[in-house]
Amino acid sequence: MEKFVVNGGKPLFGEVNISGAKNAAVAIIPAVILCDEPCQIENIPNISDVSLISRILQQLGANVRRINKSSLYIDPTHIRTCNATTELVRGMRASYYLLGALLGKYGNAKVALPGGCNFGVRPIDQHLKGFEALGAETRLVDGAIIEAKCNGKPVGTHIYLDVVSVGATMNIMLAACKAEGQTIIENAAKEPHIVDLANFLNSMGADIRGAGTDVIKVRGVDYLHGVTYSIIPDQIEAGTYMCAAAATRGCITVNNVTPKHLDSITVKLREMGVKITEYDESIQVDATVKPLKRCNIKTMPHPGFPTDCQPQFTALLMSVPGTSIVNESVWDNRYQYISQFVNMGAQISVEGRLAIIEGGAPLTAAPVKATDLRAGAAMIIAALQINGTTEISNIQFIERGYENVIDKFKALGADIKKVYFTGDNEAELRA
Ligand code: EPU
Repeated sequence: MEKFVVNGGKPLFGEVNISGAKNAAVAIIPAVILCDEPCQIENIPNISDVSLISRILQQLGANVRRINKSSLYIDPTHIRTCNATTELVRGMRASYYLLGALLGKYGNAKVALPGGCNFGVRPIDQHLKGFEALGAETRLVDGAIIEAKCNGKPVGTHIYLDVVSVGATMNIMLAACKAEGQTIIENAAKEPHIVDLANFLNSMGADIRGAGTDVIKVRGVDYLHGVTYSIIPDQIEAGTYMCAAAATRGCITVNNVTPKHLDSITVKLREMGVKITEYDESIQVDATVKPLKRCNIKTMPHPGFPTDCQPQFTALLMSVPGTSIVNESVWDNRYQYISQFVNMGAQISVEGRLAIIEGGAPLTAAPVKATDLRAGAAMIIAALQINGTTEISNIQFIERGYENVIDKFKALGADIKKVYFTGDNEAELRA
């Protein structure tokens, strides 16, 4: 069994380079299916979710090759099936983008229901509503596979989303990209990765306007040509290191970021007393200047505070004396990890969508597990605060979305390693 072992109690200092955005990459890679020529995608994070979606594309018949650590060559012109129903597909949430991409290109798709992190019910009714509005018939086959089928091409339409959904917005953009006529998506999500997907599709010749606002207009085109495209930096990875620096009262520079994408996080850190200095493509986070103050956060769709940074920020709030309140308004059940913090001595109670944190309680080392990707990152941030040795298990969740997490934290001065446990024996694994 692999674990992370963290000896905390030291502030982080130094620089960290942020990788390409996971949630953009897992949409842009399947979006290449729509292209009529090969593409090269750059600034791809080297994480297990990217390996998984790449292998799924290969199963469909695409030629996917890694050119270097962060670039992929993808030739979709030999795709031979619209059936994506293997175990690999079931293993990741973002496989739902295969539905939009295959439907948009071939007019039909059969995709196994997605897996991914478990924080309550994760419906895809808005995706299906969009496909149906575009003229597809959708049905659930054997309780585990979604089939979407058009009579010919999808046909442009007007869709109003009942909830602001990142996945539904991107999936409808994919399905509408080559449709007949214009599709208007209202109440669309506005996350940076939505703009990135639209930029990628437009660079191939698509006609998408309004991405980043709540009304997106997609005029269908017949042909998409091959491009070389570089993915935006990962807003959440950057936010994670920023929280870690503040939680350990350190001072770090986070490189390769778009500071504007981090506004909702920097505003909160500043409110707490962290000194933030923004540069063109980097940001300095200095928590050494004055004692930090408690604060409240409420997660919201972009440009609100990102739910994917909620556990990491909670780990930071545990270190600050006073009562802080976290309000999770995006997901119904994203507090499963709190019991792990309580095992470390944190004083946190959960009441529905609220987590009430009595910060400043002394934390002690305890074995904890990553209950999902971001919760796993939050366990590292908690462990870095503790004078003692914390073992974090279920690290496969963390490796789904964080590239070289051990090396990046080590470069900031953290004492962290990945070990392989067999009974009483422990062997350090090197990247
Ligand atoms: N929702 C519906 N119906 C739908 C779709 C969503 O009711 O058809 C609800 C969800 O239940 C949720 C809310 O709408 O309450 C928002 O869900 P959204 O569709 O925006 O989430 P998602 O597209 O499934 C992506 C990210 C998540 C991130 C959310 C919100 C990917 C692969 N995943 O999920 O990222 O939490 O947007 O920003 O892009 C992560 O990276 O750790 C992660 C979980």
